[in-house]
Amino acid sequence: MSTLFTPFKLKDVTLRNRIAVPPMCQYSAQDGYTNEWHQVHYPGIARGGAGLVIVEATAVSPEGRITPNCTGLWDDRQAEGMARIAAGIKAAGAVPGIQIGHAGRKASANRPWEGDDHIPETDPRAWQTISPSALAFGGGLSRVPRAMTLADIERVKADFAAAARRARDAGFQWLELHFAHGYLAQSFFSVHANQRDDRYGGNFEGRSRFLLETLAAVREVWPENLPLTARFGVIEYDGRDEQTLAESIALTRAMRAGGLDLLNVSVGFSTPQANVPWGVAFLAPVAERVRREAELPVAAAWCIDGAQTVERVVAQGQMDLVMIGRAHLANPHYPYQLALELKAQRPAWTLPAPYAYWLERYKGPGKAAAQ
Ligand SMILES: Cc1cc2nc3c(=O)[nH]c(=O)nc-3n(C[C@H](O)[C@H](O)[C@H](O)COP(=O)(O)O)c2cc1C
Repeated sequence: MSTLFTPFKLKDVTLRNRIAVPPMCQYSAQDGYTNEWHQVHYPGIARGGAGLVIVEATAVSPEGRITPNCTGLWDDRQAEGMARIAAGIKAAGAVPGIQIGHAGRKASANRPWEGDDHIPETDPRAWQTISPSALAFGGGLSRVPRAMTLADIERVKADFAAAARRARDAGFQWLELHFAHGYLAQSFFSVHANQRDDRYGGNFEGRSRFLLETLAAVREVWPENLPLTARFGVIEYDGRDEQTLAESIALTRAMRAGGLDLLNVSVGFSTPQANVPWGVAFLAPVAERVRREAELPVAAAWCIDGAQTVERVVAQGQMDLVMIGRAHLANPHYPYQLALELKAQRPAWTLPAPYAYWLERYKGPGKAAAQ
């Protein structure tokens, strides 16, 4: 009996299984607007059988985009395309989710396949980046951001709330706040990026404040009966991991008290000097610890690959949901493949009827195929 293919209920939402597609930027939008690419891509992946499909990091303001081609929800008109995407995911049997965020000092970058570095300041496509402190990330992302004023902080929190309201109105049923990967919220928490001496910096409490206040602003507009989640880099792999993890778990507990329903456990990526131990399911033990000590449901991604591994991390209670990214790009029907390998009951049922009917019957060349 596979645990992976059992439903998962959070608030009023039930996922058909424990497989989630994590947010994956498509870098294919114009001025924050989605288009045919997104309309086909997201429902297509949802048809493959995952329980949850989370739409890519979507910027809460224009300067919060990672690249000029990232999606946005800072304008009501951007929600129209997003509503079609949410409906498409839902029609395919998955729960539609979306990640909203602000890229902070990593914004104004070229697409990964065009350099993954900051757009030169002389390029008209570039824009002024903002961050808690005027400190560059480094490497190819060496532009020094402008340190945010208190007015900037208030404005960005309000932008998060407005984007969450648009996501709600567009029909998304699962919201993920992007508090990870060295973007704006993670930068407030990280000692690598935050050297403020006001109440948004300094000790644990100060560095947590922006994240908790943003969560509170979003909690006001996001429906109580729908999951409100965050992706948060709980560890940096920078040599001070025990301290970071302890602080991250304390913040996760505070977020839980502030109305967070699940944490998507991830890596901080706040410094290019990190030494991430890439390997199969390397984050699973970290996720398990956060789940146990913060007493909150968790999900995690990063190299959780292969049927036995995917099944194991859920069956052993390391996480409640498994986030599977790149394998879905290679094969949008990856959950069907997992179901076959795990000998889950009626594997074809992970697919919609126009596919499932044939796969249930067609076991080789013959009559069924000729119909
Ligand atoms: C093309 C691509 C785009 C991504 N975009 C995002 C994003 O928008 N937000 C995010 O939190 N992570 C993003 N990530 C990270 C993924 O969510 C996921 O953590 C990563 O792919 C590792 O999982 P995997 O090993 O199953 O692919 C992206 C990854 C890829 C490959």
